[in-house]
Amino acid sequence: MRLSLALAAAMLVLSACDKKVAAVNLGERVYAQNCAACHGARLEGQPNWRARLPNGRLPAPPHDETGHTWHHPDEVLFGITKNGLVPPYAPRDYESDMPAFAGKLGDEEIWAVLAYIESHWTSRDVLEARAEMTRNARRQ
Ligand code: HEC
Repeated sequence: MRLSLALAAAMLVLSACDKKVAAVNLGERVYAQNCAACHGARLEGQPNWRARLPNGRLPAPPHDETGHTWHHPDEVLFGITKNGLVPPYAPRDYESDMPAFAGKLGDEEIWAVLAYIESHWTSRDVLEARAEMTRNARRQ
């Protein structure tokens, strides 16, 4: 009895892992096709990404740990990817080159591309900061 319970628990953990791996794999394809042109094939962002372009807009930031993507909770990253930099993520008349993907990608693809991006965040500081962010978001 105890053994079969342990086995069932192990299978649950494994299938959760499988789902995560599947999402990251799908996300890798979505990223290459929809994000890499601006955010870089290796998530490195555009050169000099902190300096505004001549038209006043910002270049695409990196999505690896050197950028600030990881400072935002999952829901915010999802909202920005789906709707672009519009309220509540930016002021109403904010001008940005970040497209809204609502008409192009389904919700599942957006979560997958975020899972792919997040799979590059591995340092302890970043993981701890994100765990804290998730705890705070749940408390609200
Ligand atoms: C046409 C170029 C372009 C493409 C394609 C693009 N982005 Fe962006 N993205 C930008 C720019 C430019 C910014 C910075 C906008 C700003 O701050 O004004 C940005 C910002 C972001 C941010 C906010 C990051 C932060 O730290 O505030 C996220 C999240 C994001 N992009 C996700 C994605 C994802 C996911 C894809 C692919 C599905 C994608 N982007 C495709 C140009 C692009």
